[in-house]
Amino acid sequence: MDLSYILNHLGEERENYFNAVSPPIIQTSNFSFKDVASLRKAFVDEKNISVYTRGNNPTVEILRKKIAALAGAEDALVFSSGVAAISAAVMANVNAGDHVVCVQKPYGWTHKLLNKFLSRYGVSVTMIDGTSVENFEKAIQPNTKVIFLESPNTFTFELQDIEAVVKLAKQKGIITIIDNSYSSSLGQRCIEMGVDIEVHSATKYFGGHSDVVAGYLMSSKKIVDKIFESELLNLGGIISPNDAWLLIRSLRTLPLRLKQSRETAEKLARWLEEHPQIENVVYPILESFPQHDLAKKQMKHGGSLFTVRIKAISVEEVELFCNSLKRFLMAVSWGGHESLIMPACSFPVKPDEFGVVYPFNLIRFYIGLEDVESLMEDLKQAFKKIE
Ligand SMILES: Cc1ncc(COP(=O)(O)O)c(C=O)c1O
Repeated sequence: MDLSYILNHLGEERENYFNAVSPPIIQTSNFSFKDVASLRKAFVDEKNISVYTRGNNPTVEILRKKIAALAGAEDALVFSSGVAAISAAVMANVNAGDHVVCVQKPYGWTHKLLNKFLSRYGVSVTMIDGTSVENFEKAIQPNTKVIFLESPNTFTFELQDIEAVVKLAKQKGIITIIDNSYSSSLGQRCIEMGVDIEVHSATKYFGGHSDVVAGYLMSSKKIVDKIFESELLNLGGIISPNDAWLLIRSLRTLPLRLKQSRETAEKLARWLEEHPQIENVVYPILESFPQHDLAKKQMKHGGSLFTVRIKAISVEEVELFCNSLKRFLMAVSWGGHESLIMPACSFPVKPDEFGVVYPFNLIRFYIGLEDVESLMEDLKQAFKKIE
């Protein structure tokens, strides 16, 4: 893969816009045609000829080409959010009476899509512990049309053996979809491992600056064409040209940002693992991670999220620790320039959608682009407060 070419040039036909280095934001809802014959021709290929921005827009098209190439896929579609991309990918492949097998703890709104939303349209789901391939085999029914993976998830980080699940799905003619937001297409090559559809929240690493909500899916041309004609045009969850432009700009620095934040994350995860005030650290590429060998096999490196349990005797102590941090913002989401924490003790005290009540001392960290030293100093002063 020629990453430099993809990020700096692919899809950018500069001679069409004054040789500007940065592409224009084609901020228009529709496009005009010089004669009836041209309009008629455009109607037949709305995915590639700009007729109306709900279908194709030249700024969005540049982005589509780049992200498809990054994933090694034939084609891609961009949506107004990660959830819109996930919903389109699943809905395009099920009808009333069909069945989906999904890993036990996917992103919360994926769980709701499958368990609360699609059940209204006659689609059933079996949620399984995806750490063993046998569980997939047992859950598959004659009407199973989709296997939904998220490896790893972004809170407890369980993995699935992607190649083994793909092999099983192919034998049975089942479509595989993976949420690859944690690793990104650069860190985990899902399409090359045979997954049919890779989906992402572009709000995270791809956007990278906490200022855009968006999503992508990447797949074969055949599958992308089908989703374009149906879920994209019908449900209309498209990205604006302006947000597409912001994502093109962010992609220029994607590999640099990913490298910086994951290297800092790994240093901090290893440092925290040795810290006397920490019970444990959950991070896929640590040797202590239960599926460490699988992580090594299918992920190129760790991501920038990990979870820790701090040694605290009460919720108040956890709160004091979290409230004392100055360089970590307390917030949902992840993938931006800024480091974040999300303490489980902020969740409503009831089982979540997976039936899990998280330990009160569990905190998720996302590591941004700051210096490792400044983050470490901040953690040290917060630990002192609860000594
Ligand atoms: C792993 C994962 N998938 C999907 C999503 C949904 O993405 P969005 O918020 O862009 O709709 C998120 C958002 O937090 C996520 O963490």
